Amino acid sequence: MNRPMVDARYSGVAVTLHWLIALLVLFNLLVGIGHDAIPALRALMPAHKAAGITVLVLTAARLGWRLGHRAPPLPPEIPAWERSAARTVHGLFYVLLVALPLSGWLMVSGPDHRRPLQWFGAFDIPYLPASGATADLGGAAHGPLGWLMLVLVAVHIAAALRHQFILRDKVLARMIPPLAG
Ligand code: HEM
Ligand code: HEM
Repeated sequence: MNRPMVDARYSGVAVTLHWLIALLVLFNLLVGIGHDAIPALRALMPAHKAAGITVLVLTAARLGWRLGHRAPPLPPEIPAWERSAARTVHGLFYVLLVALPLSGWLMVSGPDHRRPLQWFGAFDIPYLPASGATADLGGAAHGPLGWLMLVLVAVHIAAALRHQFILRDKVLARMIPPLAG
């Protein structure tokens, strides 16, 4: 019985924001990468943009919360290399969770090729004040940042599954409280 490991969990707010952001990011990776090859996914591009702007807003909330609340300490037996790998991946996630939506938003805000921008049909989202060159820069960055996100998500999920099924510790339960039993 190792109480501290079970008690060291993320708060309800952190867990809720994590899973909302994760679902929206997975949806956006699927639609963003798939829409060229699978025509049916093209109809979901307006939802891709709305979901992406939502990720930006939720990430601002998450970062605000995170500044005031430290991540719960990891179980003591986790080696140093793993702690710094987790810190690096989580830090890169926060950078990408801002840079990806921003680059997409800039891309669709260019004066020459503005595309419709609505939040799930409920209201118009304003365009950013982007010049043509800034919009092109956003467009050039968006794809590579998206692929980097896909790689990091794969590493992150593999790490979570390794903790759950190979190391059999309580790390996944920190983000899925019912698993803590
Ligand atoms: C797909 C998009 C996802 C993104 C962008 C994401 C992002 C993050 C971030 C930024 C953190 C660090 C939280 C903090 O300390 O502030 C985190 C923690 C965590 N995530 Fe995810 N996540 C995703 C999906 C998943 C999935 C699918 C799983 C489970 C299979 C998962 C399991 C975890 C766990 C267990 C932690 C806590 C790690 C620890 O205790 O150090 N995540 N995630
Ligand atoms: C978490 C947020 C987001 C993620 C993970 C994401 C991911 C992606 C990915 C992986 C692609 C495919 C890139 C490629 O094939 O090279 C893509 C394309 C695209 N994204 Fe996003 N995106 C996000 C947010 C946004 C936002 C906020 C907008 C606009 C407001 C946007 C607009 C677009 C557009 C228009 C394309 C198609 C580009 C083209 O086919 O020329 N994305 N996105």
